[in-house]
Amino acid sequence: MAMAAASALAVGAAVVVANSASAAESTLGAAAAQSGRYFGAAITVGKLNDNTYTTILNREFNSVTAENEMKINATEPNQNQFNFTNGDRIVNWGLSRGWKVRGHTLAWHSQQPAWMERMEGSALRSAMLNHVTRVASYYRGKIHSWDVVNEAFADGNSGGRRDSNLQRTGNDWIEAAFRAARAADPEAKLCYNDYNTDNWTWAKTQAVYRMVQDFKQRGVPIDCVGFQSHFNSGSPYNSNYRTTLSSFAALGVDVQITELDIEGSGATQANTYRNVVNDCLAVARCNGITVWGVRDCDSWRSGGTPLLFECNGNKKQAYNSTLEALNSATPQPTTPGPTTPGPTTPGPTTPPPTTPPPTTPPPGGSGCSATVSLNQWNGGFVASVRVTAGSSAINSWAVTMNIPSGASVTNTWNAQASGSTGSVRFANVSYNGRVNAGQTTEFGFQGTGSGSGMSPTCTAG
Ligand code: XIL
Repeated sequence: MAMAAASALAVGAAVVVANSASAAESTLGAAAAQSGRYFGAAITVGKLNDNTYTTILNREFNSVTAENEMKINATEPNQNQFNFTNGDRIVNWGLSRGWKVRGHTLAWHSQQPAWMERMEGSALRSAMLNHVTRVASYYRGKIHSWDVVNEAFADGNSGGRRDSNLQRTGNDWIEAAFRAARAADPEAKLCYNDYNTDNWTWAKTQAVYRMVQDFKQRGVPIDCVGFQSHFNSGSPYNSNYRTTLSSFAALGVDVQITELDIEGSGATQANTYRNVVNDCLAVARCNGITVWGVRDCDSWRSGGTPLLFECNGNKKQAYNSTLEALNSATPQPTTPGPTTPGPTTPGPTTPPPTTPPPTTPPPGGSGCSATVSLNQWNGGFVASVRVTAGSSAINSWAVTMNIPSGASVTNTWNAQASGSTGSVRFANVSYNGRVNAGQTTEFGFQGTGSGSGMSPTCTAG
């Protein structure tokens, strides 16, 4: 039955037949796939030898996220020493079964290795960009969606960023991370992921919304927003969740439910799961749901029994309502498969409302100055260049860099490069030429070879 429906769906003309045959699927993944969505679980290598666990995992899901194995402390335990052993096990578990793999996470204030926790300032900025570049490059082509930045906003009513060592490197750390991720893996969807952003009226939700809107306006490469959706009495599901999902989607990004768990039990819990699924199904760009664990006893909040299976593997009431809701989705009218187009690089539409606050002191005099910070690895580098206006505003700028012999520029963002070797000139693009007195704008480029020893010269217009 499942096979028949799937192959019928693959042929556009047969959709009506499949539909009227009412092909209710019997697993979460297959049910979600009817409308082109995935249904995933966070998994951990420590449980891949547990038969009850893997039986459910392999039967029900078609996407995975590493619960901890691809976090910064796992993948770069010592600076510039990368360990992908456990991440690979999870990625390969999914890819070998034809599933989607979500990458979690490249830049986060939490679960940093000790060496990074101790870092601040430009050393940390470079280390963070190096991490993003190296990890995203390693997994290039394998990750459906990356949580590039996780949990960067403050809880409560401030509407601001969370204080962290990363935030203290400058407000532009988030966009810098996204640009490095795009350069490293151009095919992956790049997501911003957070919690307490589910309720449309909450200040934190609104603050993230404004950031995504700003990124889209300025052409910062962002493709999706992840809603962790850890629901409990302190952060309860609200019926405006659908408004949240559709409002973000209207900005031109995909939305994904990335870490779903709902504390509770019985019919109440089942009903909330149903509502969450229906909200996702109502938003065309909500392209997948991931629950944060397989069984209640696998959950990071196991006391709240927030998942879909009991420890013995039995399906809970919440499982049934989730499956039923997924089966109620309107099948995709076209060929099943990836629902949304691959990442595009949106052109900036309007200039940013403000320039980021200066993070380096303005140079004396008029004109401009530039500084470069380099993330070098064996065979390549990412250079981040900050352009700072002097005592007067400037309307255009150009930075000339001496690319060392043997090195070559392969990819530039937020500037227009002339040439790729030798003396390369990087001119502003339409939306970042104007820099107010003492303010800073940033561009970057990726290169092959060694970028060390470059010194920028800035000319203002
Ligand atoms: C949690 C894991 O589930 C735990 O095993 C770990 O001890 C702490 O992190 N938001 C996130 C996830 O983005 O990475 C967190 O995962 C849960 C909250």
